[in-house]
Amino acid sequence: MRYASITDRLAHLGSGRWAVHTTARRMKAAGEDIIELTIGEPDVAPDKALLDEATRAMHAGRTRYSNGRGEPGVLKALVEKYSKRRSGITERNFLCFPGTQTALSVVMAGLVEKGDGVLVGDPLYATYEGVVAATGAHLIPVPLRPEKKFHLQAEDLARAITPEARVLLLNTPHNPTGAVLTSDEIAAIGEICRKHDLWIISDEVYEQLIFDGTTFASPFDRQELAERTIVVSSISKSHAAPGFRSGWAAGPEEFCERLLPVSETMLFGVQPFIADMTALALSQHFDTADVMRQNYARRSSIVERAFAGSNLIKPMAPEGGMFILLDVTATGLGGEEFAWQLLNEEKVAVMPGSSFGAQAAGFLRISLTVPEDVLEVAMGRIADLAGRVAQDKR
Ligand SMILES: Cc1ncc(COP(=O)(O)O)c(C=O)c1O
Repeated sequence: MRYASITDRLAHLGSGRWAVHTTARRMKAAGEDIIELTIGEPDVAPDKALLDEATRAMHAGRTRYSNGRGEPGVLKALVEKYSKRRSGITERNFLCFPGTQTALSVVMAGLVEKGDGVLVGDPLYATYEGVVAATGAHLIPVPLRPEKKFHLQAEDLARAITPEARVLLLNTPHNPTGAVLTSDEIAAIGEICRKHDLWIISDEVYEQLIFDGTTFASPFDRQELAERTIVVSSISKSHAAPGFRSGWAAGPEEFCERLLPVSETMLFGVQPFIADMTALALSQHFDTADVMRQNYARRSSIVERAFAGSNLIKPMAPEGGMFILLDVTATGLGGEEFAWQLLNEEKVAVMPGSSFGAQAAGFLRISLTVPEDVLEVAMGRIADLAGRVAQDKR
């Protein structure tokens, strides 16, 4: 049978990226004792009040169709949240989606097509390549340099721009590096985007997970970038609720008007009972993000300390998020080889950096979503393997 070219474009961009993870899950199912440090699944439960609200709303009949833009309660809560960041925000600046991932896909489909280019920092979140490829557009990687703590540099962005470039896809706090862009960096990046008339999609799903000493900054907060900036985000990480699939896009009114029929055609709205729970999540303070932020910062320090004296493994301290990168190049192995050997010989599953772009090929990504004692055992095993590998190479 004949298929549309989207199936070819995405053929190698799906779950193949997660091969170590899926293999680890298979090994676990077969009874093996595996320490899993792969995916970014919050390890705390959503607040009970949110679960109660979803249940209450479901029983109250909030199980009917919604509209394409979003339920009034969520839109009101979003207006309040984002009005703290920039003036003039109304409900017409939002569209609700089942999670950031869907928001990204629909937003991208509304901005680019075959022949267009999307600038993305490399390393990049594993699904970005597929999101861009689905539209027929191509990715233009911009190197994120370890010596700049993986912060996107305006000069590197300017150098990468081609005549086809239409969009810059930003992610701060960044997955997998944990980099959090400063206000000055955003201003410089924004200037380049204005000069070259680029849209900015800002993936802010980790906004609430920023470690002490660092401050969140976004192009959305700058009036001069208002006409070209679209934020995508969700309650997946902030409220430890990825399974609820509840997110949104925040952008210019005209953009939202144009995108509404695209979203309606694809989704026909989100689930009202989840919208009610989301409205509650956004309109009150819950300490879920505070707990996670403290946990991930503490666990990141444990990993950093574990390799403080090592000349084989170099930890790259994150400024936020739920991951830490380890540079394993000094062992003589690439991240991919190291990750498979680690799974097979030490029963520890991590993501090879290559799942996050060419620039990350020498790294492992460690998820900080396990208890400290488990993390310490896992770091010990990584050190053991690194030692053995280095010995063998000599
Ligand atoms: C950078 C980034 N963007 C988007 C997502 C997807 O988020 P959501 O659950 O809201 O679809 C993730 C999930 O890990 C992520 O790390």
